[in-house]
Amino acid sequence: MSNTDRQYDLVVWGATGVAGRLVAEHLTAQYTPETLEFALGGRNENRLRELEADLIAQSEAWEELPVVIGDATEPDSLREIAHSTRVVCTTVGPYTTYGTGLVEACIDAGTDYCDLTGEVNWIREIVDRYHDEAVEAGSRIVHSCGFDSIPADLATLLVQSYAASEFDVPCELVRLYLEDGEGGVSGGTAASIATVFEAASTDPLARQALSNPYSLAPPGERSGVDPGEQRLPRYDPLCSAWTAPSPMAPMNERVIRRSNALLGYPWGREFRCSEVVPTTSGPLGLVSAGAIAGGLGLGTMALSVGPIRSTLQQFAFPDPGEGPTRAEIENGHFTVRALGRGTATDGPFVLRAEISADRDPGYGATAQMLGEAAMCLVFEETDSPLSGGILTPASGIGLPLADRLRDVGLTVTVGERSRPTE
Ligand SMILES: NC(=O)c1ccc[n+]([C@@H]2O[C@H](COP(=O)([O-])OP(=O)(O)OC[C@H]3O[C@@H](n4cnc5c(N)ncnc54)[C@H](OP(=O)(O)O)[C@@H]3O)[C@@H](O)[C@H]2O)c1
Repeated sequence: MSNTDRQYDLVVWGATGVAGRLVAEHLTAQYTPETLEFALGGRNENRLRELEADLIAQSEAWEELPVVIGDATEPDSLREIAHSTRVVCTTVGPYTTYGTGLVEACIDAGTDYCDLTGEVNWIREIVDRYHDEAVEAGSRIVHSCGFDSIPADLATLLVQSYAASEFDVPCELVRLYLEDGEGGVSGGTAASIATVFEAASTDPLARQALSNPYSLAPPGERSGVDPGEQRLPRYDPLCSAWTAPSPMAPMNERVIRRSNALLGYPWGREFRCSEVVPTTSGPLGLVSAGAIAGGLGLGTMALSVGPIRSTLQQFAFPDPGEGPTRAEIENGHFTVRALGRGTATDGPFVLRAEISADRDPGYGATAQMLGEAAMCLVFEETDSPLSGGILTPASGIGLPLADRLRDVGLTVTVGERSRPTE
């Protein structure tokens, strides 16, 4: 069966979870049965039918939604899902625990795939085991299509594409600023964070993936000039403020370096990127940056210790299936700004891109990002030169994703520092 003869355009697997439900809501609100053949996927038919009833009650356009059953522990069921659809979008995590079977099934079926993983150790394993097979099968496996790592990866692509078209040279540095953000954490995300720390404590390859800034680059290309994520407060002349380490830097920076590598190094082999949290320019800015760095360091230390990690999971973190309230999702927001510094023949330039949303970054806005990344794959709206492989949002989809995100209400701008354009 060719990829175009499938029963569905898209299956959302994990639709009964916190993020999956929001993705399904986003799709039923934005699209109609005339424009999208999509099915709800999960392991429990009753829960899927309840979700179907809720979605139909909220929607004027949808009168029924097919459900497909697949359990991560039953490879045949994953093969059936992968063969039933052109694209699978999965929110079944932790991906280290549940994700590999579906990737394998999608490659086997030549099906496109996108997910929400922020688990560097797992992506590295998938890259090493499956990249060549996915290229051969023409299967686009696009990881990290949520708050990790679309804003950072796409903002970098926007800045670099602008630099190429206006100045004919790439930026040698792109720095990402997690400027403001308010949102919650779900049990699924907490479990995934714990899984990464667990892997780092037991598996030397996972430790390597987390310590090498180039660990997601192709094998043989895993070194370079970039020193990796910032760990201490630092004054940043580019944004004229003190900055602290960003909790998402270990993930987002590696994804951006993989984008550059997969695209054939259009931003140069000397390209550097970093993600930070900016504070202010004066002594108070230093104090705030110090407090953020200290808090992050303490959190990392605590999660690295097995018994503390288990205790936090048992008593402090939400359980799988629990997440932010509707009010928290609707009142949340985030802004990620990118500044790119380059040198043209007539002197230096600084570019700026911004991606922001007025919803909780990890759930409300993530559902929009994952849903629209999936739609880019469904409708072949990509400007990527890559027709298969283990890909990133920038390398596997590219700028058409920016247009789709604008269409669903996110702010996405790019321009020279003083005059941003749509
Ligand atoms: N990158 C980002 O910005 C971002 C944002 C949000 C979430 N995430 C990631 O997305 C993942 C999901 O998060 P979440 O909060 O939605 O988690 P969740 O609420 O716990 O949902 C997990 C989903 O996986 C399903 N599931 C669990 N075990 C399964 C199995 N053996 N076979 C098939 N399905 C199974 C659950 O089904 P049941 O309902 O039947 O239990 C549920 O639908 C996590 O890895 C999280 O880190 C990433």
